[in-house]
Amino acid sequence: MKIITLNDEAAIGQAIGDRFCALLQENPSAVLGLATGASPIPSYQHMISRFKAGAVSFAKARTFNLDEYCDLPAEHPQSYRSFMHAQLFSQVDIDPQNTHFLDGNATDEAAECSRFDALIERFGGVDLQLLGIGRNGHIGFNEPADTFTQGSFKVQLAPSTLEANSGYFSGEHMPTHAMTMGVGAILRAKEIVLVATGAAKAEAVKAMIQGEITPQLPASALQNHPNVTVYLDPAAASLL
Ligand code: GLP
Repeated sequence: MKIITLNDEAAIGQAIGDRFCALLQENPSAVLGLATGASPIPSYQHMISRFKAGAVSFAKARTFNLDEYCDLPAEHPQSYRSFMHAQLFSQVDIDPQNTHFLDGNATDEAAECSRFDALIERFGGVDLQLLGIGRNGHIGFNEPADTFTQGSFKVQLAPSTLEANSGYFSGEHMPTHAMTMGVGAILRAKEIVLVATGAAKAEAVKAMIQGEITPQLPASALQNHPNVTVYLDPAAASLL
């Protein structure tokens, strides 16, 4: 893993946003793996500013999002589909038909997970995957578990995740389950960039980089990937 510590979220967003833009300049139909949460927002903002400056186009890009809540209407403002629309898709020239999500409301969950995994393979796999990290070391919604997950699946969210994300649901009952790409599928991306900012992530970051590789800390699996860059701010890097 390559570890890069930058001064603040804006600098990290610029570095990651520039990496995505460079890939799209090289390969306009690249397959992008996208993430939600607060951490990737500055990266999306930088991509939008590069698009507005005429430096990059998303017209031929294809995107796959890591995860989606179950039992939440797609049009709910806190669905990850809505998040991506607000934070990136509505502000660049991406073709909505080229943006892919797990359907957390599918009645046949196993079939939905297989559909999503097969679609990623059909387009040649993810070229560049953006990740955040949960306070418990989750990536996507792969919570601490006894074994590493492989393909997409439905997961029960961990108490710490419910606590961390409940603020977004302001009084409303937040979903208790989600569908997520598995750790094995995430590791098949050709290149991965992970962003972690703030002191609340420092312990998970230390365990991811310096701890043993264990499904109890799902992000530790990234130690096995040949092309991972981790972007940290000083607070998230404080225990290294
Ligand atoms: C969420 C998402 C993850 C994200 C993580 C951290 O629940 N499923 O993909 O990386 O939690 O979110 P944040 O960046 O808001 O701290």
